[in-house]
Amino acid sequence: MPVILAIESSCDETSAAVCRNGEILSNIIASQLEHERYGGVIPELASRLHQQQIVRVVEAALSKAGVTQEELSAVAFTQGPGLLGALLVGVSFAKAYAMALDIPVITVNHMQAHVLANFLSPEPPECPFLCLTVSGGHTQLVYVKSLSEMEIVGHTIDDAAGEAFDKAAKLIGLPYPGGPVIDKLARSGNPAFHLFPEPEVEGLNFSFSGIKTSLLYYLQKEIQQNPDFLSQHLEDVCASYQHRIVSILIKKLEKAAKQYKVKQIAIAGGVSANSALRKRFREAGEKNRWKTFIPDFEYCTDNAGMIAIAGYFRYLDQNFADLSVTPYTREI
Ligand code: KG4
Ligand code: ZN
Repeated sequence: MPVILAIESSCDETSAAVCRNGEILSNIIASQLEHERYGGVIPELASRLHQQQIVRVVEAALSKAGVTQEELSAVAFTQGPGLLGALLVGVSFAKAYAMALDIPVITVNHMQAHVLANFLSPEPPECPFLCLTVSGGHTQLVYVKSLSEMEIVGHTIDDAAGEAFDKAAKLIGLPYPGGPVIDKLARSGNPAFHLFPEPEVEGLNFSFSGIKTSLLYYLQKEIQQNPDFLSQHLEDVCASYQHRIVSILIKKLEKAAKQYKVKQIAIAGGVSANSALRKRFREAGEKNRWKTFIPDFEYCTDNAGMIAIAGYFRYLDQNFADLSVTPYTREI
């Protein structure tokens, strides 16, 4: 029964989790709220905060799991993609910890771990399946042939879906991260209030930069005519903007499902916490007779639980790294 300690530090959450035989015993997440005042993640600040938090977070994960250092079989960690300085904290800590305990290290790709978060549910998907992975830095359609073979069949050609939420929030004057704030406001707004344009992108790729620009021009025009426009229609603007992002995502997902002839469809990543996306994904599932999978909220945004399950699968394959491994910042 392997016991794995997992570490995630790719962006602005310092997280550690412990799993025994693929079952999560603890998943501690320290979110760096300090970035909020800057309206986005400051890489240097992220690294410093990871350094300050990592020991405390790992100790909390072990203690909550009721597991001692001696019981650990391996240490899994996010190798990339992410911010270099932030990743370095987790990677260096994990390597030193594993070396001291004389146990192996396991490298995990952060984006693959988002997909594998779906395996933390009691009824996980069966391979092959499709996963729409939507986060702050990535938007990907992934064809999952097996737990270790994933092919990116569609991706964004500019901004990620999460970025479209975050940049819109900044434009409107809402705090960072914008996704959850827009999601909340949109609940009491009218999604048909304004029709945002739909980008024309070939194949299974996405584009989100045009919708953000169109929001900017739309607001400028409306505010010129009525300076109180935004305060009067904040919820409607959020609902309409969110509606378009979700419809872009669902449309491409339906296209990919047809093209790859799959009926098992999952979503993952921070934006999969979005209530409108979850709802319309379920509806698309009923319409197309898909079997749909969504990770629990806790495992949608960045967390070490997903690194633990990805690490566990690699442990079963005895897929260990040596201590010379270094982080990578972009998808490889
Ligand atoms: O996966 P994640 O935690 O970190 C990355 O790997 O990027 O995703 C963070 C992104 C942010 O852009 C955030 O605004 C977005 O996920 N997000 C949401 C919601 N919760 C988080 N976007 C829309 N609705 C939400 N409820
Ligand atoms: Zn992520």
